[in-house]
Amino acid sequence: MIRGDKNPLFNKNTMDKQTIKILFLGDIVGKPGRLAVRDFLLQNRQNYDFVIANGENASHGFGLTQKNYDNLISYGINCITSGNHIWDKREIFEYINNADKLVRPFNYPDSVLGAGYRIFELSNGIKIGVINALGNVFMGYTDSPWTKIKQITEEIKKETPIVVMDFHAEATAEKICFGKYCSDAGISAFFGTHTHVPTADEKIMNNMAYITDAGYCGAIDGVIGMEYETSLNRFLTYLPERFEVAESADVQINGVEAEIDTATGYAVNIKRVYCVSNIKENEENES
Ligand SMILES: [Fe+2]
Ligand SMILES: [Fe+2]
Repeated sequence: MIRGDKNPLFNKNTMDKQTIKILFLGDIVGKPGRLAVRDFLLQNRQNYDFVIANGENASHGFGLTQKNYDNLISYGINCITSGNHIWDKREIFEYINNADKLVRPFNYPDSVLGAGYRIFELSNGIKIGVINALGNVFMGYTDSPWTKIKQITEEIKKETPIVVMDFHAEATAEKICFGKYCSDAGISAFFGTHTHVPTADEKIMNNMAYITDAGYCGAIDGVIGMEYETSLNRFLTYLPERFEVAESADVQINGVEAEIDTATGYAVNIKRVYCVSNIKENEENES
């Protein structure tokens, strides 16, 4: 156990100032994920000033319908980030420009619809910038996340010192290295997503809350939120088979909470959140 100012989960220099607490929820996978998040926020929403969740898999594992976007916002989520799967439901192209709480990765060409970062304002006037980016390693083709990140951060910092990053990427080394680069740019909290498996490396890095991956919210059984059998068949036969969402009633929440100093934008502490519950049949109707 590391004590005092050497503990990587706390930033001693920023204690005792005014802070806000941000909850970040990892990729929400299908209906089990949506209901897990609904039930978790019903009990815990009041503990947080601002809630961000990755919604790229929220609609049957692939993409985000407008209905599910509205559902998730109604549960108390302030900002939905995304990733490579955000384009999987075609209706996204119809509503993304009106979805003012949705952020898609910024490193697409300028002609692509939606916003790569947004600034949100709490009722007390405190502002929070949220950026979403895609990694380049073992991912599809996009623009580099590296070239514009300092410029975007500077732009947000004209309005607020609090800047949060959802870095949606596969390779751990790319995530750690980009995390360090983002801490140099003055980002307050950096949450990795996409692998759906939470990592145990949360820490304060150069005044920034950091974790390589926040994990996912969804059915516990299965393979990263999807049904075991269809995943297995693809490995056994190499044939394409449509993935289905794992439908077990046992669900998990994986997330991270970070406290941020409102004056400096420095992270004060970071803590992983893990919760399991059971979705009962009679509670399954979504609002
Ligand atoms: Fe995902
Ligand atoms: Fe992804």
